[in-house]
Order: sequence, then C-alpha cells, then structure tokens
Amino acid sequence: MRLEPWGKGDLPLLEGLLGDPAMTEYLGGPESPEKIAERQARYERMTADKGRLFKIVDAATGEPAGWVGYWERTWRDEQVYEIGWSVLPAFQRRGMAGEATNLAVAAARSDRKHRFIYAFPAVANAPSNAICRKAGFTLVEEREFEYPPGTFMQCNVWGLDLLASS
Ligand SMILES: CC(C)(COP(=O)(O)OP(=O)(O)OC[C@H]1O[C@@H](n2cnc3c(N)ncnc32)[C@H](O)[C@@H]1OP(=O)(O)O)[C@@H](O)C(=O)NCCC(=O)NCCS
Repeated sequence: MRLEPWGKGDLPLLEGLLGDPAMTEYLGGPESPEKIAERQARYERMTADKGRLFKIVDAATGEPAGWVGYWERTWRDEQVYEIGWSVLPAFQRRGMAGEATNLAVAAARSDRKHRFIYAFPAVANAPSNAICRKAGFTLVEEREFEYPPGTFMQCNVWGLDLLASS
C-alpha cells in the first residue's frame, strides 16, 4: 500500500467508507450523503498545520482502499492529535490499516507539533484495538463516548508519546 494526500476526487471513497452500515458499526452508524459531502469539503479545506488526511491506495492496482488521518483535538485540557482509519471490505485483513497507521504516526511525529496522539476505538472493535497495540499505543482507560450526539459507545482510550524513542 501507499498513502496519498486526501484530494478533491475522493468523495466516492468517503461514501464507500462512511455510507455503509457494516463499515460504521463502531462509528455510530452511516452518515447521510449530505453529511459525507460536508465532510469531504472540510477535508479538502484542512491545512497541514491542523493535521493530515491520507487516502490508502493499493500499490499493486492503484485502487483506492481506505483512509487514515490525524487532526487536532483537546483531550484533558491539552492539545493533542487524534488518529482514525478505515479500509474498504475488499481490502481488509491484509495488514493495510496497520501499515497505514504506522506511516501516519510517523508523519505526526515528524510534524513536531503535539507530543501525544490518541485513538478511541470501540471496545468491541477488535481489529482497531489490535492496530493500536501493534503500533505501540498504550491503553490508558475505557470510557463512554457520545458520538455522534445521541449515540453512546464504550471506547478504549489509547495514547502514544510521539517524543518517546520507539
Ligand atoms: C478497522 C479496520 C480499518 C481494519 O482494517 P484492516 O486493513 O483489515 O486491518 P489489518 O489488516 O491491518 O488488521 C489489523 C489487525 O486486526 C485483525 N483483524 C482484522 N480484521 C479483523 C476482524 N474482523 N476481527 C478480528 N480481528 C481482525 C488482524 O488480524 C490484525 O491483527 P494481527 O496483525 O494481530 O493479525 C477495518 O476493519 C475497518 O475499516 N473497519 C470499519 C471502520 C472502523 O471501525 N474504523 C476504526 C475506527 S477507530
């Protein structure tokens, strides 16, 4: 796989990732076409000082396979990065999300802007929790999150110190 910056032509990929009930089981359910279009516009506007969003591409065929990205958020009164990932069903279980996560963490480290990066997968999201563990994140705690508004989910809080030697 390889990563490419998220771009203007990537709306269909976002629809495949966020418009599908199975893909969004642990993300509060599918988003409407309007919400996805709004999100695409936001992604196109995002500047590198706020984080980075990448398309995961299958290097063998050039096909779009998924998404990985990190962005700023406040966590316990501190500015940190949050990271997320998603891979289309046809490309899952090949290690793509794990590799993409390692590359995105390396990009966040090289930005030298925030010390900590966090991921908040649902406790039941086995592949995402495996990705966190393998990428060197530390399990901090389990807590309930409300996302999107009105939907409550039990999530793990995984943190990684970007300054620590890996
Ligand atoms: C989570 C997701 C990105 C994983 O993508 P992927 O490319 O299949 O992941 P990988 O192939 O890198 O696998 C990562 C680990 O999860 C394991 N895994 C993958 N699918 C699994 C499944 N359905 N059940 C249990 N474990 C699974 C893999 O075996 C691997 O662990 P290992 O290296 O110890 O063998 C993908 O399932 C997805 O897009 N899900 C929907 C969106 C989502 O939930 N995003 C995460 C929000 S925090």
